[in-house]
Amino acid sequence: DDTKAGVKGLVDAGILNIPKIFVRPSEDLAADELNSSQKTIEVPIIDVSNIGDSIRRKEIVNEVKIASGEWGFFQVINHGIPLSVLDEMIEGIRLFNEQDLELKKEIYSRDSAKKVKFLSNFDLYTSKALDWKDTLQLSLLDFDPDPSEMPPVCRKSTMEYIKHLKKLGETLFELLSEALDLQPDYLNSIGCSKGCSIVAHYYPPCPQPELTLGVRKHADAGILTVLLQNHIGGLQVLHDDQWFDVHPIRGGLVINVGDLLQVSFNSHKNCPNSLVTDCFYVVHGQVLSNEKFKSVKHRAIANHVGPRISVPCFFSGHASLLDKPFGPIKDLQSEANPPRYKEFLLNEYFAKFFSSSLDDDKL
Ligand code: SIN
Ligand code: FE2
Repeated sequence: DDTKAGVKGLVDAGILNIPKIFVRPSEDLAADELNSSQKTIEVPIIDVSNIGDSIRRKEIVNEVKIASGEWGFFQVINHGIPLSVLDEMIEGIRLFNEQDLELKKEIYSRDSAKKVKFLSNFDLYTSKALDWKDTLQLSLLDFDPDPSEMPPVCRKSTMEYIKHLKKLGETLFELLSEALDLQPDYLNSIGCSKGCSIVAHYYPPCPQPELTLGVRKHADAGILTVLLQNHIGGLQVLHDDQWFDVHPIRGGLVINVGDLLQVSFNSHKNCPNSLVTDCFYVVHGQVLSNEKFKSVKHRAIANHVGPRISVPCFFSGHASLLDKPFGPIKDLQSEANPPRYKEFLLNEYFAKFFSSSLDDDKL
């Protein structure tokens, strides 16, 4: 029953020391000292206004291509989703987490088949150290949720956000298709933008933030992630073996390439890595030989102040893709660019993901 109160339940109980299960292994903590970046470069910020202007659009496509290759991450601004919709989405998640505990407990579940659920750490029983966060998870496999399934306190704000998110997803997949020299509707037509999971995180203030993490180091399992966050900050991206802060931009959204997008394209022959690791060359190897889309490791640090709220949306394709073979796009294959990944079934892949620990590299 304590578990159902989540991490917020611990904070509300007034703990001063975090329970051992949240403390990172000592070698992890020591390694961290070494690789915090002092550099001033930042995750790219892409202004997507004027996307209808053909000259500007080409520039945007190029920025997306470079950012997806070099960082695996970028932020978009002027994407057209009104600030009020973003603010209300965040506020709805705050209200959900801060409502009467009994109401949250009613939808607490660890059942992967459940579409709407509240939980803390999906890998509670398999991870070495837990994350300092609680999560409300909403699976929208066809983007057509039944509002009555949504928690009442964030129903209206979530329905409104989802409507805009679907459109933004379609735009992003168009840009990514163009960045790969495919027809603009290619990734949309194979179902990339037709389903997602919203995984809304609530990171309570932490009494010992240096001993734990908000989210452990991981790469995202889906195709593409669109992340909304409040002003607290904490997201860090691994780039050149160093951690870089992703500074929250009011009205901005963080976009990152997931493992499945990396898989979808042909990688370079000399890529030393196996399935869903971090080397993936795009399209015509000889032309763009230094540009690759990659699914990059990231984490969120814990903080004395809070709550931090973040709402990643994982685009993972339409439900109908789940039982069909998934692998490198055939149109991108050639003799010079043979497929680097065997086809596999998405439902088996996701079943593996949810039965292992978030920071397990074996997937
Ligand atoms: C995540 O990567 O799952 C969440 C990152 C964040 O909260 O910023
Ligand atoms: Fe993530």
